[in-house]
Amino acid sequence: MNLSIETPELMETFGKKLASQLAAGDLVLLSGELGAGKTTLTRGIGAGLGATGTVQSPTFVLARTHRTTSGPNLVHVDAYRLTSAVELDDLDIDFANSIVIIEWARDYLDELFENWLLVSIDRSNEQDIREIEIHGHGKRWEGAQFDFGD
Ligand SMILES: Nc1ncnc2c1ncn2[C@@H]1O[C@H](COP(=O)(O)OP(=O)(O)O)[C@@H](O)[C@H]1O
Ligand SMILES: [Mg+2]
Repeated sequence: MNLSIETPELMETFGKKLASQLAAGDLVLLSGELGAGKTTLTRGIGAGLGATGTVQSPTFVLARTHRTTSGPNLVHVDAYRLTSAVELDDLDIDFANSIVIIEWARDYLDELFENWLLVSIDRSNEQDIREIEIHGHGKRWEGAQFDFGD
């Protein structure tokens, strides 16, 4: 599905709605150039999950774990500095019991996982508007219905 998001605030709102559809074991890959809004979206997801701590660019720590009010931990990964599956594996992320968001959808990720939700953010103009495309891969997302209306 496709969405047009006009402001950072609306990107966070979208993240909150997306969060309500996520469960332990889910993996969300975010693609889009620097400044596209991947971290802003993750902040919204964090807000939706009641994540503790500040969701910010994890550039200097490859992954950051946020506890949430009652559900699974939110693990926020920056794959920009991860160059291989081995490096990702070294982070020892508890994928099964967490909701994992990975900024930068790297090619090698597709081969590691069976199920993931890919959120592509396109910033093709100089305005603030971001075009979003969402694709689910694998059984987990088969037939998934997304409703991001108001
Ligand atoms: N519609 C929008 N959605 C998301 N971010 C936007 C939007 N319009 C402007 N911005 C701004 O773009 C920047 C996105 O930064 P960030 O979320 O860190 O991107 P990334 O993590 O993809 O590098 C922020 O400064 C944000 O305020
Ligand atoms: Mg970022």
